[in-house]
Amino acid sequence: MLDTAGPMIDSNDPAPVLSIGAVSKKFDSLTVLENCSLDVAEGEIVTLLGPSGCGKTTLLRCIAGFWDADSGGIRIDGRDMGAVPVNRRPVGVVFQSYALFPHMTVVQNVGYALRMLRMPRSAVAERVSTALETVSLTGLEDRYPSQLSGGQQQRVAIARVLVMEPRVLLLDEPFNALDAKLRGSMQVELRQLIKKLGLTSIFVTHDQEEALTMSDRIAVMRAGRIEQAAPPEEIFDRPATAYVADFIGMSNFFSGEAQAGAVLLPDGQSQSTELQGPVKVMIRPHNIRLVDAQDQDWRGTIAFHRPVGPLIEYHVDVAGDQIKVLSMRQQQSQIYADGACVGLQVIDPASCSIYPGAH
Ligand SMILES: Nc1ncnc2c1ncn2[C@@H]1O[C@H](COP(=O)(O)OP(=O)(O)OP(=O)(O)O)[C@@H](O)[C@H]1O
Ligand SMILES: [Mg+2]
Repeated sequence: MLDTAGPMIDSNDPAPVLSIGAVSKKFDSLTVLENCSLDVAEGEIVTLLGPSGCGKTTLLRCIAGFWDADSGGIRIDGRDMGAVPVNRRPVGVVFQSYALFPHMTVVQNVGYALRMLRMPRSAVAERVSTALETVSLTGLEDRYPSQLSGGQQQRVAIARVLVMEPRVLLLDEPFNALDAKLRGSMQVELRQLIKKLGLTSIFVTHDQEEALTMSDRIAVMRAGRIEQAAPPEEIFDRPATAYVADFIGMSNFFSGEAQAGAVLLPDGQSQSTELQGPVKVMIRPHNIRLVDAQDQDWRGTIAFHRPVGPLIEYHVDVAGDQIKVLSMRQQQSQIYADGACVGLQVIDPASCSIYPGAH
């Protein structure tokens, strides 16, 4: 007879490669991580994003085994890592400072850990050559780090981790030492490389643009907690909390009062909500349209404007508050000058986010 009482296994939802389960960590009396849980699927890139000091590196160090969590645990492929020491975890870490050995060539740097494992020379040579090809460094084998550009040193650091064939790749702010332009191109390059290799990865940054570029999912951290973990579009369009809304992208906040299932927006339109009482309303700058001031209740004066690529960013002074507005340049029949009196309208009330509490 068939046993139908067993657990249901959903074949569309495979077991995560990395599972962070309710990890908490204190340094003396300072709580640095509080009940952090996150599952990372095969081949997924998840970014830990949050301000300096929120616990990103500490969480990474718990995964790699440099720190023990006070409570909670790390599993890789279902195996509890609690008793597994750093050098036995199937994890590769790329640190912010590349920590290349200055007296070793590219080949020696990349092969170092394999030689330490006493792998035969020919096998080391083969793995190193594959890793260098993967990060497009073939031809630079005999250079020393000081003879490489920042971007090339970065790639050596990545090759040095890839050569170990880790199950999980951890990257802690790997682009910090690069200038803005190189950073941008390295982000796209590294994302494509990780995706091609299918490596399950955690990427750490405090830069929201970088997070939006690199990630399949972003976990926004605040003071040791994961506040929301979701794909980039969802984080941007439907931030779960006012903190996330404020942290990602430009935002305007207004105080409101929710009554009978609705809240009045500043332009007089309303948006439905399940909340009741004082609320915060968040409206993205691209969800506001500037119109002639005539007949508008919501109006103000342009305090500042500037072109941002194909957009224009306006700061509109409304009763002492500056409201940010982003308009497409070509859709703007008229570009408003500083000092002009304008009306403001919410384009799509349903895209406004409502949060409990006064601002
Ligand atoms: N070894 C340690 N001993 C005591 N406190 C520590 C230690 N390491 C980190 N901390 C504290 O833990 C908190 C989180 O640090 P962590 O390095 O994880 O932050 P972060 O999010 O990586 O910040 P950043 O973006 O600046 O790198 C900080 O308040 C930090 O001062
Ligand atoms: Mg850090």
